[in-house]
Amino acid sequence: MIKSLQDTITLHNGVEMPMFGLGVWQVEDGNEVIHAVKSAIQAGYKSIDTAAIYRNEVGVGAAIRESGIAREDLFITTKVWNAHQGYETTLDALDKSLQKLDLDYVDLYLIHWPVADKYNDTWRALEKIYRDGKARAIGVCNFHVHHLENLLEEAEIVPMVNQIELHPLLSQLEIREYCEAKGIKVEAYSPLGSGKLLKHPTLQTIASKHNKTIAQIILRWDLQQSIITIPKSIHEQRIIENADIFDFELSAEDMRIINALNANERFGANPDNFNF
Ligand SMILES: NC(=O)c1ccc[n+]([C@@H]2O[C@H](COP(=O)([O-])OP(=O)(O)OC[C@H]3O[C@@H](n4cnc5c(N)ncnc54)[C@H](OP(=O)(O)O)[C@@H]3O)[C@@H](O)[C@H]2O)c1
Repeated sequence: MIKSLQDTITLHNGVEMPMFGLGVWQVEDGNEVIHAVKSAIQAGYKSIDTAAIYRNEVGVGAAIRESGIAREDLFITTKVWNAHQGYETTLDALDKSLQKLDLDYVDLYLIHWPVADKYNDTWRALEKIYRDGKARAIGVCNFHVHHLENLLEEAEIVPMVNQIELHPLLSQLEIREYCEAKGIKVEAYSPLGSGKLLKHPTLQTIASKHNKTIAQIILRWDLQQSIITIPKSIHEQRIIENADIFDFELSAEDMRIINALNANERFGANPDNFNF
């Protein structure tokens, strides 16, 4: 059972990835992202999830430098954007991200979305990036089972991570089972439903019982199922609150009630039907 904010999960190549991290989608570059990332690191977070398309890699890099924490003690994820998919363009995109982050390597490099006809070439580039030591682990986001099946037909390296929308209204059992069988770790994005789940009455009942907030209940639900989670907040108090989930446990009955909320409801796009 996970005990602290620094607990990790072992990816199939042996790399230890923190179970908990800070997401920075829709966080402005400059002061806003620097403040959020520094607050998180100060609160004990080790893992930061950004992406080229978030356009805040420069600020994330600045925050890392200003935090005073050794680079090797942090776990930095970024992602190749759809417009840059393809072999050469992905190699170039990673170099640009490293330049912006001012880092020699990232800990995890992800394909952001399964762009049809492109993601297998993109994956070959990620394999090269991994072999060249520019990413300690590589993976995908938003891959359904059929995308992974297709990728695995040609891949030489099995993705270490699949980052997908996952929260109590979208528990993603099918893809979780598939990933488990292939040794791919599942990472929950939008764990709080981009903030839209934070008034849910059933979750509120469980939260009140434990004297915790709904955000804390959901994040604890992730960790108790060995799901990596990366809630986003720009507010220091919430960043601290979200990580304050190691002093209680959800019972089997709590877990059952939350699991029963699944409605296959997405707040983001369906990876079978996106237009960006
Ligand atoms: N791979 C992908 O395609 C993909 C897609 C979406 C997201 N992601 C990643 O996943 C991360 C998290 O997902 P997300 O940003 O969609 O949303 P989220 O983490 O589910 O929710 C964030 C929202 O909840 C609010 N919030 C956070 N903690 C709170 C608390 N304790 N109390 C009240 N409100 C709280 C935040 O507001 P404030 O910031 O104002 O506090 C923000 O509006 C992203 O930042 C990104 O890194 C990846």
